Amino acid sequence: MKLRSIRLLAAVSIMTVIWLGGVALPQAHSQTRPNADQVFKNIQALKDMSVDDFIGSMGVMSAALGFCCNECHTNAGTDKVDWAADTPRKVTARKMVNMVTTINRTNFAGAQVVTCWTCHRGRDHPATTPALEDIYGPGPTAQDDVLPAIPGQPSAAQIFDKYIQAVGGAQRLAAVTSYVAKGSSVGFGGFGGGGQVQIFAKFPDQHTTLIEFKDAPDRGDSIRTYNGQAGWIKTPLTVLGEYEITGTELDGARLDAQLAFPGQIKQIFTNLRVSLPTTISDLPGPSSQTASEANVVPMQDRRVQVVQGSGPRGLLATLFFDQESGLLLREVRYSRTPIGRVPTQMDFADYRDVGGIKMPFRLTFAWLDGRDAIQLSDVQTNVAIDAKRFGRPATIK
Ligand code: HEC
Ligand code: HEC
Repeated sequence: MKLRSIRLLAAVSIMTVIWLGGVALPQAHSQTRPNADQVFKNIQALKDMSVDDFIGSMGVMSAALGFCCNECHTNAGTDKVDWAADTPRKVTARKMVNMVTTINRTNFAGAQVVTCWTCHRGRDHPATTPALEDIYGPGPTAQDDVLPAIPGQPSAAQIFDKYIQAVGGAQRLAAVTSYVAKGSSVGFGGFGGGGQVQIFAKFPDQHTTLIEFKDAPDRGDSIRTYNGQAGWIKTPLTVLGEYEITGTELDGARLDAQLAFPGQIKQIFTNLRVSLPTTISDLPGPSSQTASEANVVPMQDRRVQVVQGSGPRGLLATLFFDQESGLLLREVRYSRTPIGRVPTQMDFADYRDVGGIKMPFRLTFAWLDGRDAIQLSDVQTNVAIDAKRFGRPATIK
């Protein structure tokens, strides 16, 4: 039996990305995106879902078991991979998908209470007996996804007001209706860095992140776009190349685009609640600290106010505001798949003055399949941006 430490997960996630390197990938371009079961060849359990949510659920499985893709898909990471071929582990995983659905349906009225993580916690074979050293050692620290409202806290509106004040005030924020930012992708653990980054943003909700790897032209660009209605992802070295996002990841893309213009933060969420203040810290190294710029002090332990809100189709987002400065330090948003939520975390640091408002120049991303950090060097506000910049990756440059 193999036991894998949860701490290894970060490394596993990065490997996940590497395993996919060099794969001859099925390309699936089309104008309207079909569902995953139409794009892929051998889908029996995860039906009726978008391609983005399907890929998200592969991330959920990998993270829950502490697996790389190739532990269920033989030869993932080589040109011999056949994603559709059934392996013994894949067959077991499929059974587990059906088991989880049945457990939730028969015991929890269909609510997604039990997921792969509930049992597996980073191991292929779940633990059956509590270890005494866990019982008497430091307890588990993970926060629940869905947080309760805790009385006695400032209201969400007060926390948002303090944030709006901290980044320049409503009036100055309203005067910024677009920006173009340039910087570099710092990457993690020696992988993924060295890209030239451009961010295009237009009020109220258009947003594009373009990362080009000019030193490694074979690698291809990494592009995420959202034009106010539709969104696309193009990632180098992955299964699909470019694809349109139509599932819950689309709601996440919209949220990120809206949060780029903080003046509207009070209008974005439904069901707002303020939970207990907590302490957050940088993601554990090796890597959140690999700033190429020596002057950047990474975010360390900070006391934060915690606000949670909901969006369309089960989107859930938790925002962490510095208790002292009022600045937004972290956004964790969860999109949904039938087998568990997919978390995406964004950390904001190195806030600098740009024409009277404060913007974070360091953006750190973590999701189930990888991590990246962007260090901005230049931001221009209120510049005209061609509408094409927010469209399909193939047409944005
Ligand atoms: C725990 C096992 C497991 C892991 C780990 C895993 N997968 Fe899967 N994968 C499956 C199962 C099961 C299916 C079939 C789902 C179904 O039948 O609905 C599948 C199907 C797929 C398919 C569709 C293939 C086709 O044409 O039918 C792709 C693509 C895929 N996985 C990619 C990935 C990627 C990329 C990773 C790593 C991020 C990954 N998988 C990790 C179990 C796994
Ligand atoms: C109720 C607890 C529970 C849940 C929930 C659960 N599993 Fe499991 N899973 C197990 C147990 C227990 C085993 C080990 C069975 C054995 O040893 O024969 C296992 C084994 C596996 C294995 C085989 C591992 C190996 O290397 O032999 C895979 C793959 C797997 N689970 C995938 C999943 C996936 C994917 C999900 C979510 C869709 C999931 N499991 C949810 C309890 C669970």
